[in-house]
Amino acid sequence: MTRTPARPFRSREWFDAPGRSDMTALYLERYMNYGLTPDELRSGKPIIGISQSGSDLVPCNRIHLQLVERVKAGIRDAGGVPMEFPMHPIFENCRRPTAALDRNLAYLGLVEVLNGYPIDAVVLTTGCDKTTPASIMAACTVDIPAITLSGGPMLDGWHEGELVGSGTVIWRSRRLLGAGKIDEEEFLRRAADSAPSPGHCNTMGTASTMNAVSEGLGLSLPGNAAIPAPYRERGQIAYETGRRIVDMAYEDLRPSKILTRESFLNAIRLVSALGGSTNAQPHIVGMARHAGVELRPSDWMEFGYDVPLLANVQPAGQYLSERFHRAGGVPAVMWELLQAGKFDGDALTVTGKTQAENLNGREATDREVIRPFDQPLKEHAGFLVLHGNLFDFAIMKTSVISEEFRNRYLSRPGHEDVFEARAIVFDGSDDYHHRINDPSLNIDENCILVIRGSGPLGWPGSAEVVNMQPPDALLQRGITSLPTLGDGRQSGTSDSPSILNASPESAVGGGLAWLHTGDTIRIDLKNGRCDALVDEAEIARRKDDAPPPIPESNTPWEELYREKTGQMGEGAVLEFAVKYRGTSNRTPRH
Ligand code: FES
Ligand code: MG
Repeated sequence: MTRTPARPFRSREWFDAPGRSDMTALYLERYMNYGLTPDELRSGKPIIGISQSGSDLVPCNRIHLQLVERVKAGIRDAGGVPMEFPMHPIFENCRRPTAALDRNLAYLGLVEVLNGYPIDAVVLTTGCDKTTPASIMAACTVDIPAITLSGGPMLDGWHEGELVGSGTVIWRSRRLLGAGKIDEEEFLRRAADSAPSPGHCNTMGTASTMNAVSEGLGLSLPGNAAIPAPYRERGQIAYETGRRIVDMAYEDLRPSKILTRESFLNAIRLVSALGGSTNAQPHIVGMARHAGVELRPSDWMEFGYDVPLLANVQPAGQYLSERFHRAGGVPAVMWELLQAGKFDGDALTVTGKTQAENLNGREATDREVIRPFDQPLKEHAGFLVLHGNLFDFAIMKTSVISEEFRNRYLSRPGHEDVFEARAIVFDGSDDYHHRINDPSLNIDENCILVIRGSGPLGWPGSAEVVNMQPPDALLQRGITSLPTLGDGRQSGTSDSPSILNASPESAVGGGLAWLHTGDTIRIDLKNGRCDALVDEAEIARRKDDAPPPIPESNTPWEELYREKTGQMGEGAVLEFAVKYRGTSNRTPRH
């Protein structure tokens, strides 16, 4: 039986172009040199690209080197021709000065590959934090049928009988090290135990959050995000993903048909219910912008803030990915939201069905891990959006505000949710590390630690540095966190209730540039305001001072990134790239 694609496959233009047998021969011959036959390539079957994000440099995604065989088997069985190619590596923990530089670079590279080669549809392999948004952003720009496949999280980590989650254990152990309760060897043992198998972070950090967001957007098969990397179901969903993308190629089911404002609002609500990473904000906004979908800063408050925390997963909760998966994973959380009327069930997905159809029968099986909507871990668990004279936009993750923090800062009678603190200002993380234990700063519990020069242009790339820990002297007194604020980001695995992603950043003249150590900052969570109590005349005078120092660009890409990238509030995308959408509608010239 021959199937007719809903739109002619673009690979025909390469391998079967009428009247261009000269070019066609050239296109075909080298793909034959590893054993493909001209019949295969001219049979009319879709060519399915597989974007390989795993490598020795990206251990979080390395499982894809094996999984890809199951993807290829699925593609072959469904009647497609697989072609695997490498994606620019992005590994969160080791890339200096920050992996954030790579999201837009991998995006650019992937756009060129998907657009310039005979690829009809693509499997986007994802895992580590930015591999997911980079892949989806590129799929939006090119707009060919695309499906994401996560490599899945690591198994749960255990240390001396306790669950230790990747990333989260680092932030918690860092405090113990600072307080003198553990030594460096014990620190490394705890870290190693948090990462017991192949896979990405097993906490609800940025990797798990972004793969969940892909499910929430309708871009992966249901359940894809949370299946641990070593589980048999991971290989099985790789196979099913391979099968499904072939049908999607025939159906011409492209990102532009799936990604709507409603699907992005679903993703925003899902992040709240998961207690997901603050990095979801620039990534969701970035993907929406490349998809041509308008999101407003107020959407995070209007649609996300009131959603309760349902997933009992670190850092906001207790458990890790394995147990989360067994409890029902992301579909079970979306099921709760759907029943509560907080999810648009009509949104279309890569299955060709709606979210509501996919979620039928996906109720959670372990209520300790995935709570019912009306018995959540925490009410109003979304991101707070703040503005004021220091920035136009910043967010705060409320699901990680601890009781201790709430009692100390947010519960004074008559002043609930309002506090004032003395600013201690650092110019980047080197400055922080040099000076945090300097006794002359007199840092106490009435201080707010501020870091600037850590945004997209200042760092460059925007660094995960805002979750600064208090000086050792305070840690030794049992003060484990101070309020923090900055124009950088923080790890999705961090349990710090920071005010972060402040835009515009200090490097482009944002308000943090004129802030001085010793200024009082007033934070009013109820009204979403954060202001330095400095009068207008003084602010105007300080604006004439030399701007805070930032490092020079050290590579060509750093320079280009700084020239072309926007602010975090707007997704930190390559601004000029947003206008390119649906490039696959125009086949590149011979
Ligand atoms: Fe790669 Fe967390 S560091 S997933
Ligand atoms: Mg990170």
